[in-house]
Amino acid sequence: MGRCIKVLFGSLSFIVALIAIGIGYLKIDEVFRQKFFAKFKNIVSNINDPAMMNLRCNQLLRHSDVKGHILEIGAGTGINFPCLYNNTNIESYTGLEPNVEMHSYFYNFIQQWDISFGVRLSNNPATNMFHIESNTIDTIIMTLVLCSIPDPLPQQVLLEAHRVLKPGGTFIFFEHVIADSQTDPFIYGLQKTIEPLWVIIGDGCRFKPITNYFDSVKNLYSKVEYEYSDIPMPVFFFKDAVKGKLTK
Ligand SMILES: C[S@@+](CC[C@H](N)C(=O)[O-])C[C@H]1O[C@@H](n2cnc3c(N)ncnc32)[C@H](O)[C@@H]1O
Repeated sequence: MGRCIKVLFGSLSFIVALIAIGIGYLKIDEVFRQKFFAKFKNIVSNINDPAMMNLRCNQLLRHSDVKGHILEIGAGTGINFPCLYNNTNIESYTGLEPNVEMHSYFYNFIQQWDISFGVRLSNNPATNMFHIESNTIDTIIMTLVLCSIPDPLPQQVLLEAHRVLKPGGTFIFFEHVIADSQTDPFIYGLQKTIEPLWVIIGDGCRFKPITNYFDSVKNLYSKVEYEYSDIPMPVFFFKDAVKGKLTK
């Protein structure tokens, strides 16, 4: 019995030590962190997850709303493509994905479809879209990205998005937000507690009051619309989100 407990504790200590070394390594090595996150996203971005794909395709990226020249900010592994590949309203697609480790997953994923519009993936960040001319984009798409962009740069993304959009063009977004500290103090406290670890595992993602960014551009865009929504994922502290649209 004593020997069993020793083996159990020894094994547990070994596993905890391995996890601690892994997290330490993730923290100091940016390339490793990006590779890890790309692999992780490729595993969790599941095309067969009906609730999440229903949200993406039927609530956010409906064919009637996504048209013309498309720009996707933070394209990731291409998980929004099931909603786009057969949209005959699309003329071209440009994805921005600064984590180059995502690119091979993206291209492997989208090659399953015969896509009739041009697809381009760039490693430029959305904070400076110098390679995109002003007033040329009809629809911008962004899902679960702003948490990864450190303050105050999300503001810059919304300004750049406004510059590249055509007048009347739309910017469709879905972003997770920090829980409300008044109505959900437990989840809020938990998010604040785990944030230092979340930032490392989630490649810079923080729990933030994301709606502030959209409120701050109310005088710039002709229309700013959003509503609170749930993230249909089985992670109890990762539930609050906001979905909406900015119109230039
Ligand atoms: C949590 S992932 C979301 C990926 C995908 N949009 C989705 O819905 O699953 C966030 C993505 O934003 C990208 N990203 C981070 N900073 C960015 C920036 N400044 N410009 C564009 N993309 C960025 C990351 O590399 C990552 O692929």
